[in-house]
Amino acid sequence: MNAYALPEFVRPDELAGGTVVVIDVLRASTTIVHALEAGATEVVPCQEVEEARAVAARLPRGGVVLGGERRGLPIEGFDLGNSPEEYLPGRVEGKTVVFTTTNGTRAIFRARQAQRVLIGAFVNASAVLEQLLRQEQIHLLCAGTRGQLSRDDVLLAGMLVDRILRQGDPDYQQNAQAVTARETWRQAFAPPADLPAEPLAPQQLAEQLRHSTGGRNLIAIGLDDDILAAAQIDRFRSVPEMDPERARIRLR
Ligand code: MLT
Repeated sequence: MNAYALPEFVRPDELAGGTVVVIDVLRASTTIVHALEAGATEVVPCQEVEEARAVAARLPRGGVVLGGERRGLPIEGFDLGNSPEEYLPGRVEGKTVVFTTTNGTRAIFRARQAQRVLIGAFVNASAVLEQLLRQEQIHLLCAGTRGQLSRDDVLLAGMLVDRILRQGDPDYQQNAQAVTARETWRQAFAPPADLPAEPLAPQQLAEQLRHSTGGRNLIAIGLDDDILAAAQIDRFRSVPEMDPERARIRLR
């Protein structure tokens, strides 16, 4: 199992044939889970703002919602930004969400040669884990923030590595970044050896997420509430999956 702290740390062809989990906890992957759980029929990721506008223009009016961010803020003329809790049934149910973000949607495209592309966040962490326990070639692809690794993504990658080793195969080979991610997770949250593991409280997780690059950026623009939304561990039981040929993300 391999983790990559940034998309640039792996070539697209190295992901071919494997199962990739794209991780952008703050906030693209969290928001995609919210959008689909709120009843959006699919999410169409786009790398560029103009591309997103053009894709939306080709879809039936009234059936499409444009969402995303640049520099963390809503994009002019778009319907929604990138705050997970904006994606409510009243806004997205039965609609296609055309979505572009600075780092998350780019990471998704990096994974297009993979056999399976899953979207992972803390809000669906256990559901993602269940999928991974059945897979052989696992790649945890962190989106990072503008070319810098971000602790929010590394923590989720580390939690998944830790759980796969404890619940699945303890001898699963890991690359160095997977080992580091697991250590980061365990330093933050593993209980002392003599104490049982407690369920992780969202407030406790949010406190760690606030100290990530992505977290600091959100606090600077007044979007602290989005950090708490992203920390609602296992709020949902579903896993978004992209059809790599059509580049459409749906709930599996
Ligand atoms: C991204 O994809 O770049 C992030 O979701 C950024 C953000 O949350 O503003």
